[in-house]
Amino acid sequence: MKKVIKNGTVVTATDTYKADILIENGIISSIAQQIQLNGAEAEVVDAAGHLVFPGGIDPHTHLEMPFGGTVSRDDFETGTIAAAFGGTTTVIDFCLTTKGEPIENAIETWHAKSKDKAVIDYGFHLMIGEINEKVLSELPAVIEEEGITSFKVFMAYKNVLQADDETLFRTLITAKELGALVMVHAENGDVIDYLTKKALADGHTEPVYHALTRPPEVEGEATGRAALLTGLADSQLYVVHVSCANAVDKITEARNNGVDIWGETCPQYLVLDITDLEKPDFEGAKYVWSPPLREIKHQDALWSALKNGQLQTLGSDQCSFDFNGQKDLGKGDFTKIPNGGPTIEDRVSILFSEGVKKDRISLNQFVDIMSTRNAKLFGLFPQKGTIAVGSDADIVIFNPNKERVISAETHHMAVDYNAFEGMKVTGETVTVLSRGEFVIKDKKFVGKLGTGKYLKRAKYNRIQNAMQEDE
Ligand code: URP
Ligand code: ZN
Ligand code: ZN
Ligand code: ZN
Repeated sequence: MKKVIKNGTVVTATDTYKADILIENGIISSIAQQIQLNGAEAEVVDAAGHLVFPGGIDPHTHLEMPFGGTVSRDDFETGTIAAAFGGTTTVIDFCLTTKGEPIENAIETWHAKSKDKAVIDYGFHLMIGEINEKVLSELPAVIEEEGITSFKVFMAYKNVLQADDETLFRTLITAKELGALVMVHAENGDVIDYLTKKALADGHTEPVYHALTRPPEVEGEATGRAALLTGLADSQLYVVHVSCANAVDKITEARNNGVDIWGETCPQYLVLDITDLEKPDFEGAKYVWSPPLREIKHQDALWSALKNGQLQTLGSDQCSFDFNGQKDLGKGDFTKIPNGGPTIEDRVSILFSEGVKKDRISLNQFVDIMSTRNAKLFGLFPQKGTIAVGSDADIVIFNPNKERVISAETHHMAVDYNAFEGMKVTGETVTVLSRGEFVIKDKKFVGKLGTGKYLKRAKYNRIQNAMQEDE
């Protein structure tokens, strides 16, 4: 049956206006000040007093990902349900590869994790851990057949995920040729390796040493190095989870020099800080991310970078572990605390509440940062990331005035704590449609496991992204 969303305020990355939206066969078929049904059968959804915006696109998730001898707790079932509750309708997850193993096997593993579980649409990025003749021969099919048009390189996690500079440089060159966007985790893994070993040798085992052994300089250095290599390769780069002013400065400098480089930050870096790692009774372990939470002054740098376009996107970096039974693997040795946290559900809310409501970014910037720009950079626009005739009806109906408190008691992620516990936010996702079907209706989950579709994405288009940047 057709659906019509009536009386809402439609918000896109460029416009805010009152309109009705008609949905047919999962697609937005009409947008008008008033849609007359003239007796045609349609389900009417009243959005009076609410915002109606494109579903969030989370470009950075790790669902059911092996890490540090354990596996992240939220999988494609609980993770995508929680995402939907938070107003996200697409996730792009990182497919991890293993050196020497066929890439195809890694991708099949990720398809198997997601296929019958996801309740919203999803795509994959491919991790590159090595470049050799075999990998080079496999990559064209990754792009052409799987529609995976972004490659991820880790500059940290020495002896586990870390790639060397030759691998990064060759990945940049290859990506340019094939039409992929390279993503980097930018921290100097060698320096971190030295600093962590030294801290442990000196008897420092508490969670806060996770942050003290990965200072902002190691992120700034790696970001600058990756940016320079991108310029040298005349390639394209997306820096994930930017946490500090040091990295923002390097991205800004490279952009000013004409390098095709983009930056993402995450909600945790916008609202949490290094003092959270000092909480007693090992509670600091809940706040162990890489890069780590920073001194509070870095939050201002990140907000102004979002405001002025030096950073363009917000990813959750969802990678959740229970406090009891997973984070506690690192009791007595901070290097064994699994890195990451539960953020997929609160990403959109935090950006709205802390960003729009506190006048740090505009309402249209909010939509751009949490959805539209991600669709453009990752080859999903205009099918996703906007409210337009012909686009997928991935739509969020949002109450912009509802005040609530974030808590593990009420969240939908599978983990036993919430990183933003007790935080007051304004704004709440009420109803969510994925390709025209309700996933969340009046704050209740009504979706079905396995209805999320795998998305083959278009190649990275530098000219198109540059033109959009100039708008
Ligand atoms: O601490 C984090 N960020 N965990 C997830 C893996 C990664 O580096 O993104
Ligand atoms: Zn990372
Ligand atoms: Zn100590
Ligand atoms: Zn990540």
